[in-house]
Amino acid sequence: MDLTPKQIVAYLDDYVISQHNAKKTIALALRTRYRRMQLSQELQDEIMPKNILMIGSTGVGKTEISRRLAKMMKVPFIKVEASKYTEVGFVGRDVESMIRDLVVNSISIVKAEQEEQNKEKIDNYVLNKIVEKLLPPLPESVSESKKDDYQRLLEAMEKRVQSGEMDDKIIELEFDKIHVEFNDTNLPPEMAKVQESFSQIFSSINKEDKKKEVTVKDAKSILKLEASHKLLDMTSINTQALQRAEDGGIIFLDEIDKIAVSEKSQGRSDPSKEGVQRDLLPIVEGSSVTTKYGVINTDHILFIAAGAFHVSKPSDLIPELQGRFPLRVELESLTEETLYKILTQTQNSLLKQYQALLGVEGMTLIFEDEAIKTVAKLAHRANELTEDIGARRLHTVLEKILEDISFDADEHKGEEHRITSEFVHEKLDEVVEDDDLSRYIL
Ligand SMILES: Nc1ncnc2c1ncn2[C@@H]1O[C@H](COP(=O)(O)OP(=O)(O)OP(=O)(O)O)[C@@H](O)[C@H]1O
Ligand SMILES: [Mg+2]
Repeated sequence: MDLTPKQIVAYLDDYVISQHNAKKTIALALRTRYRRMQLSQELQDEIMPKNILMIGSTGVGKTEISRRLAKMMKVPFIKVEASKYTEVGFVGRDVESMIRDLVVNSISIVKAEQEEQNKEKIDNYVLNKIVEKLLPPLPESVSESKKDDYQRLLEAMEKRVQSGEMDDKIIELEFDKIHVEFNDTNLPPEMAKVQESFSQIFSSINKEDKKKEVTVKDAKSILKLEASHKLLDMTSINTQALQRAEDGGIIFLDEIDKIAVSEKSQGRSDPSKEGVQRDLLPIVEGSSVTTKYGVINTDHILFIAAGAFHVSKPSDLIPELQGRFPLRVELESLTEETLYKILTQTQNSLLKQYQALLGVEGMTLIFEDEAIKTVAKLAHRANELTEDIGARRLHTVLEKILEDISFDADEHKGEEHRITSEFVHEKLDEVVEDDDLSRYIL
């Protein structure tokens, strides 16, 4: 993870329009972690991450930024919704489970790296096992010339398996041990142990089922799992993963405003939400959490919290928690111009999505530039007149414009459909200007 802040921002620019401040702050926080890792252990221990609080109304790109980060990052990263946690002792997920989720994510990253490094070994293991099934070995006593023949057959068979030619053939696999992976990180470690012993009991009961007929194609993926289990050192993967989550892990805490208790409802303060906030304190501040894979210290995990704060305000969070998110960034609400850019300049923009979807029906959809401008204008107007739901308005607006075309697509195979500005006006004007209508339709 040695991207410079500029590179990170440039990457995000492909997907999220404007919101430069938020991108910049996040990029800097990520770079700071990289810089820290280059320092002496002593200094490393001193440098604490500065957690970030992103504030912006609904539909302006908060979650989108985190989704894109998650795809780009090679460091352990998870995104969770604050609202799904409950206070310890209540039914539901306790906040510590987010740390366990982070560790699981870290393990899958490290494991994928190891699999990549040992790809050849793993592929050979899989290939040998399958060829063995398709071509039973020769008895020891055969003549040299037979052995040569066999060798040629074997090589030919290897090629056919590799090319996928044999994928539909059925072979019988025997399983050493039915391996049931319980990755339910919801469970505290004590429970996980109980589950593990259960799965062992089950696998011994199922002894007769140890053989199973599968296609070569399925065998490839099953054996791949078996191979990485046998060939990779899971203990060292776990240790590495734990270390990485501890030093570089990032938790994106979405919808944090949902656990704030707004002043308006103060009379009925919500003990459960406050409880979650209190439970969060030690984790964000730094504490030790026990996971199935070992104990992890949360001191250096970076937290990025985000919320719309429509009903509540950041100051409605308990002061201790506010203090743990020193960096604040505000996301701007979207202008007509920004909406236009979201339609035209993002990778996989909505327009491209519709074009691809209708392409499946053999239809070519063309959006004239004027039409796109009109869509942006009317979407912005609808946001002004009713609730501001940001870029989400584009979804509803486009759906309204294209619903008939989309419905009748089968009758227009091979045709080209041009969306003009007039067409957009025709579909939308009435709806947008009528308050009641737009509340229901857009
Ligand atoms: N600045 C932007 N650039 C590109 N796309 C955007 C932008 N803002 C929002 N979108 C698009 O709008 C949709 C909603 O955005 P997102 O999920 O990020 O909202 P949010 O800020 O998390 O809102 P909420 O507070 O309601 O969770 C997504 O499909 C996203 O791609
Ligand atoms: Mg969101």
